[in-house]
Amino acid sequence: MQKKWWHEKVAYQIYPKSFYDTNGDGIGDLRGIIEKLPYLRELGIDIVWISPCYCSPLADEGYDISDYYNIDPRFGTMEDMDELIAEAKKYDIGIVMDLVVNHCSDEHEWFRKACENPDGKYGKYFYIEDMKDGKVPCNWRSYFGGSVWEPLPGHPDKCYLHLFHKKQPDLNWENPELREEIYKMINWWLEKGLTGFRIDAIINIKKALPFKDYPADRADGLSKAQNMLADAVGVGDFLGEMRDRCFKVYDAFSVGEVFDEKPEEFANFIGDNGYFSSMYDFSTNIWGRSDKGWYDYKPITPNAYRDCMFAGQKRSEGIGFYSLIIENHDEPRGVSRYIPEDDLSGTSKKALATVMFMLRGLPFIYQGQEIGMENMKFHSIDEVDDISTIDEYQVALDAGYQPDEALKIISDHSRDNARTPFQWSAAPQAGFTTGTPWLRVNPNYTDINLESQRNDPDSVYQYYRTLIALRKNPQYKETIVYGVTTPLWTDQDNLIAFTRSTPEQTLLVAVNFRNEPRTIALDAPYKQPVLNNYAEISGSKTELTLQGYQAVVLEL
Ligand code: GLC
Ligand code: CA
Repeated sequence: MQKKWWHEKVAYQIYPKSFYDTNGDGIGDLRGIIEKLPYLRELGIDIVWISPCYCSPLADEGYDISDYYNIDPRFGTMEDMDELIAEAKKYDIGIVMDLVVNHCSDEHEWFRKACENPDGKYGKYFYIEDMKDGKVPCNWRSYFGGSVWEPLPGHPDKCYLHLFHKKQPDLNWENPELREEIYKMINWWLEKGLTGFRIDAIINIKKALPFKDYPADRADGLSKAQNMLADAVGVGDFLGEMRDRCFKVYDAFSVGEVFDEKPEEFANFIGDNGYFSSMYDFSTNIWGRSDKGWYDYKPITPNAYRDCMFAGQKRSEGIGFYSLIIENHDEPRGVSRYIPEDDLSGTSKKALATVMFMLRGLPFIYQGQEIGMENMKFHSIDEVDDISTIDEYQVALDAGYQPDEALKIISDHSRDNARTPFQWSAAPQAGFTTGTPWLRVNPNYTDINLESQRNDPDSVYQYYRTLIALRKNPQYKETIVYGVTTPLWTDQDNLIAFTRSTPEQTLLVAVNFRNEPRTIALDAPYKQPVLNNYAEISGSKTELTLQGYQAVVLEL
């Protein structure tokens, strides 16, 4: 496996709408990111991925792009973007943008022209089909609920395909002209000095054609899109072309949001000369999911969490580098999902962070994770902005849940949990805005905020800084970045332990993922402690007692 410049880096995801607002309109903006660059540097970040800030009606909060070549005025201007890229460079930070090319917005010029003339050039940019006897071509379900087919505006006899929201028509990658447009756009951005792209929902660009029905999996008579994806062959032809025409030319960093890839194709995705530099390991995020909907999801256990992480280490060993996350803008807050509510504390949050940072892969911090931001408590569905949450609320009601139960269900899973404004300080609106924030600030900001944690050497924030510094420490870097991962003591419940080793060095990571203490025995005394989320380690150098949620890294 070839070594790459980005292997030893640490990445950070910004959800711009909720990061920092500089003009009081309640919406985070690019100037807000520029202003916070020194903060990102202080934390130790090298790569920043910014969720979409292109022109968009924001039906799916920017993942519905109406102009790929412009910045939405709510986020700023192209001058701000150019300044951000240039300023970030001064801090040695590379900017990664979101590449959303499975679909665009129904307000994109291409789609408007397709509606004007479905048989013309732009009609072929999309999947537009004739209705037959008033029926749509197939029974696929959109990821956000309902049929993937929607009547084409102005043409009641025709319909267009949208795997996501109806305001996100799918682009037709089978059309070489469309692909050219996309490559041109990608290169235009790379030419500006971007470090690379995070690539959205990319597996979906290849459809199983011709359209046909799959067995229905819910009472709505529809079939989840994954059934079609399992049949779709050849996504690699498109991805390989995009790599060669764009990413390779600029030596750009690319990280794929890839779900549902075929296991035998894994190495094609992130091996040497893979389609992408890296892709996310979502195995803990998708653990316990159900076709029925969020109401049927199972809560994950520490053992399952550990097993997912270890499986990912094994899958990628010798092949490539996963990108590791605890959460992102599509997930609830990781501390709320992976730690039982009664056990939530600074200590347990640090324990969770230790696991992610000490495994092999590129760590991505999602904004607010570094201060231990938690899920929101929703009091009414009216407080929710996210389209997928609104859909799942209805799915739960349709399954027979009462409104308060449905609210509890969506509270555990809602994407809005991650989208509440960043908690900068204990000032009004958590210091995020001087105006009214577009989404309610989590009321716990008076307890959980950056300002107080910055002054507290024992805070979650300072612990994240320590983890990042450790990854870059010349004494341990090689082992933390490239060392082989060997799971330990997997027969014990609620213990996540492993070694990372190179021929020269072995680090033992042991995280007691429960409230009760436990003892672990080593074959030989360890050399020295490298990291600890408690003040001390009890016991001897061969028999250690780990306290509740104690996490230690020891040099053996
Ligand atoms: C990805 C994004 C998500 C978005 C979807 C459609 O999963 O992360 O936020 O809704 O794609 O673009
Ligand atoms: Ca603003």
